Amino acid sequence: MSGGAPVQTGQPLLMVRGLVKTFGGVTAIDDVTLDIREHEVLGIIGDNGAGKSTFLALVTGYYHADGGTFFHRGRRVEVSSPAKSRHSLSIEMVYQDLAMAPDLTVWENLFLGEEVRRLGLFVDRVAMRRRATTLLEQMQVPVKPNELVGSLSGGQRQLVAIARGLLFDRDIILLDEPTASISAAKAADVLATIRSLEGRGKTVVLVSHRLEDVLAVSSRIAVFSRGRVSHLVDNTGLTVADLFHLMYSDSAEEKVATGAELAPMAAEGA
Ligand SMILES: Nc1ncnc2c1ncn2[C@@H]1O[C@H](COP(=O)(O)OP(=O)(O)OP(=O)(O)O)[C@@H](O)[C@H]1O
Ligand SMILES: [Mg+2]
Repeated sequence: MSGGAPVQTGQPLLMVRGLVKTFGGVTAIDDVTLDIREHEVLGIIGDNGAGKSTFLALVTGYYHADGGTFFHRGRRVEVSSPAKSRHSLSIEMVYQDLAMAPDLTVWENLFLGEEVRRLGLFVDRVAMRRRATTLLEQMQVPVKPNELVGSLSGGQRQLVAIARGLLFDRDIILLDEPTASISAAKAADVLATIRSLEGRGKTVVLVSHRLEDVLAVSSRIAVFSRGRVSHLVDNTGLTVADLFHLMYSDSAEEKVATGAELAPMAAEGA
């Protein structure tokens, strides 16, 4: 998918410096320094247990870091709670298990916990349904606002969850394995939606084991290994074989490579 042109992404939106998170004796995140830039799709790959989901949980304020610093648009911030991450840092997380209410409709789920109120008092169902309808049409999400979420497929739920990020116009949308448990056809819809988010000037962080999916939409790719960022590469001319090599080449030291620097390695693997 990637061309030869240099990747044009924006300024750092969220800078993470020296992040550490331990669970008892296990160091899940071990001195992670990474920028999430304006208007990019940052892919994150790595083996099971590498710390990818924990990293997202720290960025969303779901977990509290044991060490490290966050800078949002250049300003030092505390990411102390999910509400803070959402409202102050404009970050929307789409969880691996898609915590949605199956007995509620699509539009009710979209606004869950953030209902539109009239006069600051009455829940404005008409306004919410109308906004949901418009958004789903714009995003070309193939679901009806009045459908119950319980009756949707995994892929459709994923799209609804992503739509939530757009509804509230968040800057950064974090996705954890959005294409893991859905068919290839539905995965294509999700990838198209990720591209459209980037087209709308959003930033997406995509954690995935599906390396082809990461290659198809990411501008940069970070490789996590045992709680660290072992590699950070521009997605220019990379192949699945290159990513595989990066994931399993046992490099102790941090290494930042570009697509160009990787080219000889790709030839080697061919
Ligand atoms: N709540 C928790 N309590 C204890 N240990 C945890 C907790 N959450 C994560 N860990 C540990 O932290 C490490 C990183 O886990 P994490 O879930 O972030 O990995 P991951 O890269 O998302 O893996 P996967 O690809 O399997 O989703 C693992 O060793 C895991 O067992
Ligand atoms: Mg995970």
